Amino acid sequence: MEDLTKIDFGDISVDESWCFKNVRSTEQWTHGYHRYPAKFLPNVVKKLIEVYAADDDVVADIFAGCGTTLVEAKVHGKHSIGIDINPVAKLITEVKTHALNPNRLLLEYNKLVGKFDNFDENIFLEVEVHERLDYWFREKEKNKIIFLYKEILKIGDVNFKKFFLVCLSNILKNCSMWLQSSTKPQLDKSKEPDDPFDVFQKHCKKMIKQNKSYYNELIENNFLDISCEIRLEDARNTEIEDSSVGIIITSPPYVTSYEYADIHQLTGFLFEYIDNLPEFRRDFIGTFYSNNQDTNTPTPSSQKIVDELFVKDAKNAREVANYFNDMHEVGKEMYRILKPNGHACIVIGNTTFKEVKIKSAEVFFEMLLSVGFKEENVIKRSIPHKLIPAIRDKKTGRFTTLNNKNSKLVYPEEYILILKK
Ligand SMILES: C[S@@+](CC[C@H](N)C(=O)[O-])C[C@H]1O[C@@H](n2cnc3c(N)ncnc32)[C@H](O)[C@@H]1O
Repeated sequence: MEDLTKIDFGDISVDESWCFKNVRSTEQWTHGYHRYPAKFLPNVVKKLIEVYAADDDVVADIFAGCGTTLVEAKVHGKHSIGIDINPVAKLITEVKTHALNPNRLLLEYNKLVGKFDNFDENIFLEVEVHERLDYWFREKEKNKIIFLYKEILKIGDVNFKKFFLVCLSNILKNCSMWLQSSTKPQLDKSKEPDDPFDVFQKHCKKMIKQNKSYYNELIENNFLDISCEIRLEDARNTEIEDSSVGIIITSPPYVTSYEYADIHQLTGFLFEYIDNLPEFRRDFIGTFYSNNQDTNTPTPSSQKIVDELFVKDAKNAREVANYFNDMHEVGKEMYRILKPNGHACIVIGNTTFKEVKIKSAEVFFEMLLSVGFKEENVIKRSIPHKLIPAIRDKKTGRFTTLNNKNSKLVYPEEYILILKK
């Protein structure tokens, strides 16, 4: 295959106007409702919409995660569609994009919290939950969580019910024995978990405040009824119509970095989205647990990386090959759903495994060109460290903390690929 791009990624320097070092918007609108690994900095999405979206464009994010793109699209008066394979992401996005009447929300909240007085620990000792929840929670916290869950399920209005479910989902880690600073499932036997009723109220109050500012903003601009549709589908094969989307703003999963299925297992098991974890993991792109044995990839640059890695670690090479093949399918799907002249804006970072540079940004750019896209721009930005763990274990390649002597800094920078159909 001929060299499709004229852009040399090595020549690109960091564009400070895309770094937003001093102006951060992570707590604005409903963005702060739920923690989510590798979520977008809302400033980036806002600027992409303002620079690249045409007036009547429908905005799509095919790896919607916790819905940053959809929230920003709505605030900008643009209809949007989100796709994610993770039901927890779908729930969070539904709630974050749907502003609730602040007075009614406060009433529902007071009603729910009023029920706390009825809590009797002894009643919940017999309730059966998934065995994994018994692994992660002590009895004391687990009983309060089940009480809360059951009370929330009794709420008649589905939007209020989901609002409180998102609040509950967000506090589960704090109330469990899961090592607080870790995105990996790891027990911290010395942890003193938070009291579920206390943290639930604290977090709910924050969400109620954020809902109010989001609601007022939408009312003021007459955007309350702007549609946001979030679907549980696979980004490689969506049901979005051909040539129907004006702009795609998305950030794909990183290769074998976050196991989203594992990270959201507390919510997944409690809300009964997951029964069998290995089965649930199967369709996530970038997973560590793939059974694929293939090391052939579709483009010269992806093949070079996989071949180099194969000599050092065959298993790792297969995982990376699998990731590249999946991302090739995603590229084709993006081309199909975009309308002619529509923009694809992809935020993506490179990494290193076993001293081999995994140039995901360059590889995906090349793939997008190979499926028909035209290059428009590549922006390099530095990543705020708060949003993505920048440390990897040198031996295993997985995210870790700085205390680990094998640690190594990764993802100090990322790229925004801008292409046109
Ligand atoms: C980097 S995160 C996106 C975060 C998002 N930009 C935000 O602000 O929350 C990548 C997302 O891809 C999703 N994902 C993984 N495999 C997928 C697949 N096959 N189809 C659709 N989504 C998938 C994960 O569940 C995760 O939410």
